[in-house]
Amino acid sequence: MSKLLVTGRRKLSGEVYVQGAKNSALPVLAATILTKGENVIFNCPDLSDIDASVGILRYLGCSVSRSGGAMLINAEGINKSDIPDELMRKTRSSIVFLGAILARTGRARMSFPGGCEIGPRPIDLHLKALRQMGADIREKHGYLDCTAPNGLKGTKITLSFPSVGATEDVMIAACFARGITTITNAAREPEICDLADFMNKCGAKISGAGEGVIVIEGVTSLNSASHSIIPDRIVASTLLACAAVTNSKILLDGIVCSHLASVIPVFEEAGCKIRCTTGKLEISAPERLRAMKTVRTMPYPGFPTDAQAPVLAAACVADGTTVFVENIFENRYRHTGELVRMGANIKTVGKVAVVEGVNALYGASVEAADLRGAAALVVAGLCAESQTVISGVKYLQRGYENFELTLSALGADIKKI
Ligand code: EPZ
Repeated sequence: MSKLLVTGRRKLSGEVYVQGAKNSALPVLAATILTKGENVIFNCPDLSDIDASVGILRYLGCSVSRSGGAMLINAEGINKSDIPDELMRKTRSSIVFLGAILARTGRARMSFPGGCEIGPRPIDLHLKALRQMGADIREKHGYLDCTAPNGLKGTKITLSFPSVGATEDVMIAACFARGITTITNAAREPEICDLADFMNKCGAKISGAGEGVIVIEGVTSLNSASHSIIPDRIVASTLLACAAVTNSKILLDGIVCSHLASVIPVFEEAGCKIRCTTGKLEISAPERLRAMKTVRTMPYPGFPTDAQAPVLAAACVADGTTVFVENIFENRYRHTGELVRMGANIKTVGKVAVVEGVNALYGASVEAADLRGAAALVVAGLCAESQTVISGVKYLQRGYENFELTLSALGADIKKI
């Protein structure tokens, strides 16, 4: 089990190209199940979560290969409609295959995606919506057995919560439904827009992505397409936190500044200077960060829950108190215990975390428990006195492509041991 060894208090400098968005690539890979011909997906990040999805596509009968930075997928060979348990368990996001397999084959069988480190991950919104579209879904012994004997039919769906996964599942399934599907209270994340862009290139008729109401007119088949995945706004936010805690000036390249509209003000409030030009963002951090007052996680365009952990790590060394309110997931403060081991002063009660900034964190042996918590420990290690050993690197590899190489190229003293 590899670990990361970080020697703190090194300034960062230089330019870094931000990887493609994991949470866009995953639904786009699932959506290829509906297409004919070879899809070419550029800027697809090299991550274990992506590998898990590729494993599912290959199991179903798709041909998938990587050439250069592109992923080539041809789904014409699909001859299965189930996902074995061991593949399902590798990543929670495999639930987004449900709508795709059901739409393509008329049936789908898979185990309930396990809860994960950040809380129970219910799928009631997915199931309710697909049932409204005519799917017959039986849940027994932890398995989902879904059939749509007469195909799916377009209908009016209202999501009680703007769930990203449920919006994606329905959007994909609705592409092959008979008639029009509207999704009210849809998630507005940029990854939803990216998925709609890809599917429309394949011949889908999706409008309103990024708004609260998405309209999908069903079609009978989809071609394949070439598509470049949008940059990862959460990796970008994490790199901003790395620069912020090391009093650094770095340039992020290949990003979409508007995707960070709710993150940038938080870093500016902490005293960072941020300049955005087309596709680039320069951050220049102060000697010491000021507290960010209150950070509330919200559905997009609000502050992203996935950026909470790395930004909370930065708040640990700010001058003053920052209050975090985690409104999206039930159990997303597991990194705080490890940060306290490094000298942070954090109190969590339910969905609130109160972070009293301290002058310095101290290197320690810490353990990551989830993907973004692992990123938070790297941020803390970069600014801590002496050395920090981080275990649970496998979590980091789910969402950050060669993160230690990226950071050492910027001047950090970080390596795998
Ligand atoms: C996506 O997860 C992302 N994952 C998550 O990123 C991200 O944190 C989340 O959206 C919110 O932005 C991928 O895109 C692969 P949700 P998802 O459905 O779709 C509740 C990361 O670190 N809910 O919007 O699972 C749910 O419990 C990951 O990259 C239901 O109650 O998120 C949660 O409290 C972590 N019933 C809230 O909604 C449902 O049927 C938001 O979940 C579905 C969700």
